Amino acid sequence: MLKIAVCVSGGGTNLQAIMDAIDNGTITNAEISVVISNNRNAYALERAKNKNIPAICISPKDYVDRVAFNEDFLKQLDSYQVDLVVLAGFLVVIPQEMIAKYRNRIINIHPSLIPSFCGTGYYGLKVHEGVLSRGVKVTGATCHFVDEGTDTGPIILQKAVEVKDTDTPEVLQRRVMEQAEWIIMPKAIDLIANGRVKVVDNKVIIQED
Ligand code: GAR
Repeated sequence: MLKIAVCVSGGGTNLQAIMDAIDNGTITNAEISVVISNNRNAYALERAKNKNIPAICISPKDYVDRVAFNEDFLKQLDSYQVDLVVLAGFLVVIPQEMIAKYRNRIINIHPSLIPSFCGTGYYGLKVHEGVLSRGVKVTGATCHFVDEGTDTGPIILQKAVEVKDTDTPEVLQRRVMEQAEWIIMPKAIDLIANGRVKVVDNKVIIQED
């Protein structure tokens, strides 16, 4: 059974999709051991508590500096002894030490087709604003492993979504979530939980059934 920590900062719709996928069998061989947020008001924490999943807040505001926060974050995460860390809308820079320690065991969902509209400054609605202002006709979402760069790690799954002329950033964000994020994130977790994901030369190879 793959033990997972899910890190969240906001609403937690991706967390909800993961919990639903575990309940309905779309994800097998996995369980969520803990949900961690940097924001004590994140609705995602309520979603976890409603499911009786341990939900904790570790906020940088409660520490003297970033070094102290990073140290304690890693210590608390380690205490749950998870196999996989899932960043589901987690808007905190992951400490280098944690990336090294959890190499190819941290995955992130990004709301665009990487390498477009990603990297520093592209998060949440800003991604969809960028998509609309450039006028691309297709966007989507990417689930990838986390490495030292911003949105540069090996890509596990991507799914394309149509951009419409009438879209606002909010409308497009919702479509990308519904048609891509809530599908590929649970799918990636299921593939990992069932031993079907390998990283070779910085690229992901998915083994067939
Ligand atoms: C999602 O759209 C996710 O892709 C994005 O934040 C949102 C969180 O929503 N993540 C990033 O932009 C990371 N760079 P949620 O809390 O409802 O899952």
